[in-house]
Amino acid sequence: MAVKIIGTGSYVPENVADNHFLSTIVDTDDEWIRQRTGIKERHLSSGSKEGTSFMAAKAARAALENSGISAEELDLIIVATTSADTYVPSTACQVQGEIGAIRATCFDLNAACSGFLFSLNTADAYLEMGMARTALIIGAETLSREVNWSDRSTCILFGDGAGAAVLQRVEGSGGILASVTGSDGNQGDVITCKGRGIQNPFHKSRRKKDYIQMNGQSVFRFAVSTVPKYIKYVLKKTGLEADDVKFYILHQANRRILELIAKRLKVSMDKIPMNLDHYGNTSSASIPILLDEINRNNLLEEGDKIVLSGFGGGLTWGATLIEW
Ligand code: ACO
Repeated sequence: MAVKIIGTGSYVPENVADNHFLSTIVDTDDEWIRQRTGIKERHLSSGSKEGTSFMAAKAARAALENSGISAEELDLIIVATTSADTYVPSTACQVQGEIGAIRATCFDLNAACSGFLFSLNTADAYLEMGMARTALIIGAETLSREVNWSDRSTCILFGDGAGAAVLQRVEGSGGILASVTGSDGNQGDVITCKGRGIQNPFHKSRRKKDYIQMNGQSVFRFAVSTVPKYIKYVLKKTGLEADDVKFYILHQANRRILELIAKRLKVSMDKIPMNLDHYGNTSSASIPILLDEINRNNLLEEGDKIVLSGFGGGLTWGATLIEW
């Protein structure tokens, strides 16, 4: 038996903010942003009607259509997000209601930008255990609500969107061949987005809403050392060489990070597709949005090996090797 991705989908808002537009909001310019990050534009939500659950449901519908299965066939829905519209119900339950996945067990998962990989591994474990046969996993973010729009060091980086994949346990070989995930809570301060303070009869917090804060250079160093290390780990586990992999579908945070990862893996940039120039960093949505683009452009054939890998707040990281 094998756990395979049988369909993908994605959704991004229509509103596009290019670098020139951002330079009218904060003291920045197109050249700085392009040179340091590779980002040219990002899509931003048009408002509360186009929030995380809305985008997640759109991506879910597209993935179901692409896979040719109905919502009623889903046993499990996991949404990876750090920017849910509500604490309760979970985004996954909202998607369930929206698409009519009446049989599914649904929950959200927060592993920041590694969230989609953590969802993939969690769904794989459910499917391998026989607790589910068909799963929908989604990465969905409205990071524009978590960004301080007067902080030029962070607001230029992020975008909104959602990506989804349908997984199924089927007869045969291939599918998910090796996975690894990890976390380091000692480095939690490197990227934060703190929530509400405590307001109760014993304590009145004076803390106002907090926004994404990041030590960019620490994240950079962490990403370029951790991602190659764990990609090499899944390659070793499957006995494959770096060149045997057709595409490394990596978290889209920064072009320079991806270039350094390619260098460390000694693979050409042709193997590292990129769409961050159009979407910015969409956190847990970035890997499934890119996977969907590649899938819909018919760039994957049965038997191709791909690696999905990401890193993010927590700190967290993961890598998964898949035979398509
Ligand atoms: N426009 C113009 N100048 C800016 C901007 C901006 N948008 N932002 C910062 N600067 C200035 C700084 O103020 C600083 O000026 P100074 O030298 O006068 O003090 C100068 O540019 C250099 O700032 P650095 O922070 O040192 O710039 P750096 O080269 O490190 O680039 C960046 C910053 C792009 C954030 C980089 O560190 C990076 O990409 N890090 C990884 C970030 C990342 O990937 N985050 C997401 C991963 S985790 C997740 O996905 C949630």
